[in-house]
Amino acid sequence: MGRGSGDAGGEKGRDEAARRIDELVAEIQHHDRLYYREDSPEISDAEYDRRFRELVALEEAHPELRRADSPTRRVGVPPAEGFAEVPHLVPMLSLDNVTDADELRAFDERVRRLLDRDDPVAYTAEPKLDGAGIELVYEGGELRVGATRGDGRVGEDVTANLRPIPSVPVVLAEGAPSGTLSVYGEVILPVRGFQRLNEGRLARGEEPFANPRNAAAGSLRQIHDVDLRRLRALEFRAYAIGAGAPPEITRQADVLETLLAWGFQVSPDFARCADVEAAVAYHARFEERRAAYPIEIDGTVVKVDALALQRDLGELSRSPRWAVAFKFPPQQEHTVVEDIFASVGRTGALTPVAKLRPVRVGGVTVSNASLHNQDEVDRKDVRVGDTVVVQRAGDVIPQVVKVLKEKRRRGARRYRLPGSCPVCGTEVVRPEGEAVTRCPNRACPAKLKNRLLHMAARGALDIDGLGEKLVDQLLDADLVESPPDVFGLRREDLLGLERMGEKSADNLLAALEDARNTTLPRFLLSLGIPEVGGGVADLLARHFGDLDPLMDAGEEELVAIEGVGPVIAEKLVRYWEEDAHRAEVARFREHLRWKPVARAPAAAEGGPLEGQTFVLTGTLEDLTRDEARRRIEALGGKVTGSVSKKTDYVVAGASPGSKLRKAQELEVEVLEQEPFEALLAEHEKG
Ligand code: IVH
Repeated sequence: MGRGSGDAGGEKGRDEAARRIDELVAEIQHHDRLYYREDSPEISDAEYDRRFRELVALEEAHPELRRADSPTRRVGVPPAEGFAEVPHLVPMLSLDNVTDADELRAFDERVRRLLDRDDPVAYTAEPKLDGAGIELVYEGGELRVGATRGDGRVGEDVTANLRPIPSVPVVLAEGAPSGTLSVYGEVILPVRGFQRLNEGRLARGEEPFANPRNAAAGSLRQIHDVDLRRLRALEFRAYAIGAGAPPEITRQADVLETLLAWGFQVSPDFARCADVEAAVAYHARFEERRAAYPIEIDGTVVKVDALALQRDLGELSRSPRWAVAFKFPPQQEHTVVEDIFASVGRTGALTPVAKLRPVRVGGVTVSNASLHNQDEVDRKDVRVGDTVVVQRAGDVIPQVVKVLKEKRRRGARRYRLPGSCPVCGTEVVRPEGEAVTRCPNRACPAKLKNRLLHMAARGALDIDGLGEKLVDQLLDADLVESPPDVFGLRREDLLGLERMGEKSADNLLAALEDARNTTLPRFLLSLGIPEVGGGVADLLARHFGDLDPLMDAGEEELVAIEGVGPVIAEKLVRYWEEDAHRAEVARFREHLRWKPVARAPAAAEGGPLEGQTFVLTGTLEDLTRDEARRRIEALGGKVTGSVSKKTDYVVAGASPGSKLRKAQELEVEVLEQEPFEALLAEHEKG
């Protein structure tokens, strides 16, 4: 491998190395995509690191072959011990807090009094990102140093750990200042990445991070055995310029637009507010969105928009007079564990769940919290009757953070999962070395219920109206014994159910009718095969084109597919070994239709849309965003989240958002659904 491989300098060695480098770059990019975007890593971290190291070694032996887009360009070597200290160019200030609208109005009054103004002051409002504050310093458009906030005056040099973060520009776009520039922003870990990181930690028996901020800060401050994937899951969002701002920028809103144009990512949801009431309304809107927001935010930041006024107002030692953090209500609360019960999932896994005395946390009422598995229950030592701290992080399922042991009543007993399934009574099993306890009964009604819900979910067969209540009713009435039965339901069956009117029955039948026309990846996902999520389903569909060759594929053929590892391959082969599964598919086939999938080339590099960047906004008919993205990427194109001058097309569906406006401002070509589909179809054919 790598450096040791034969005549490194010779013609033949060089060709060989070039070929291998291309291969590795494509593979690593592919796995990054699966890991970060599709939520479905398919090789182990060790396998990933092996590829990465091989690439580093080849590039060292042949520096001239190092590609501009090589993933290694984002890596530096972190200092071996601790982090060096860096004084900030401009002190990194903190923000004063307000916690309700009246306090924000009082802030506004003070601002206007200090400025001696009667008329309203305009503000820019932004989400307050809950991550780690960072200063990035550029010289001649190149990243020199990145530092944590530290005490505000002196931070820690974490440059090496910042470089691998894809949204930290290593080189700025054209038009950026050529002198010294410092940019402030927040390094965050999106909620999905946070969940995945914690799942991995739990599975390895490590303690999960309490919230995305700790996880982000922890990732940034890794010193030994730096886990690159953890770094690459982070994002940097810029919000201020410290030193080197061009004089033509006069407003905070321009600061953000300019940062975007220089290649930074900024919060796409900032808004210019004409007066304080607009900022109050902005905050209220954000609070509603908070639970579903993909990033953990702990409030909004309201800043005087005009930079000249900011200068007039000045700073106190710790915080500016021209900005304030408008915090959301706290996300942690205390409550009592009323009971602990075991819930049985789709795969039969028994999950201990704490039933809590309902409590509002961050604007949402929480009454249940998963305790994950027996090991977690033991580690936290949660007992019925305990007072506990619960928290929500973004849309993360509520967690029990810890038990307040001093409040524990005498005689509280440790909790153990039951020895038999609470739903069907079958004796449960916990294989050696595994954290999960399972009900082995294939016919367990809890499994069937969750399978049905999984099948009906959006990315799968997307059966509108087939929710928990109806599934319970169908099972209680013995109308459904296996998932395909749902497609055999008749109107009179449904009308026999309690509280089922004619209209609801017809709606469900129509939804089932719609669901009959599906796609191979959706169908594969709906089966609930262990390890087969949306990303894998897609790869399999693209490789095999249709179901039969997949059902008959051996492990060898499966692992040969880019992105399918031995674990997935084994699960698939085992799955198809069971006659019951094949019989179920046969029954599905009586009801469902899908078109064979065009078998895509293994990698999309060199595709007809290579080099083209798309931004999606609004709702597309019959096409989810994920599908649209997959199709664009399959053709070699790229999909990004925000519109900039570098965007080639903005695809606008129904009720498009501010991205459409932005596209019009920047004169980026806008495609509506039809021309967009025509463009895809044209390239997919040829
Ligand atoms: S501006 C001089 N904008 O919150 C003002 N800060 O509690 C500098 N933060 O230290 C801060 N989102 O790390 C600003 N949109 C945003 C922010 C933000 C998060 C952090 C930042 C700051 C802390 C203060």
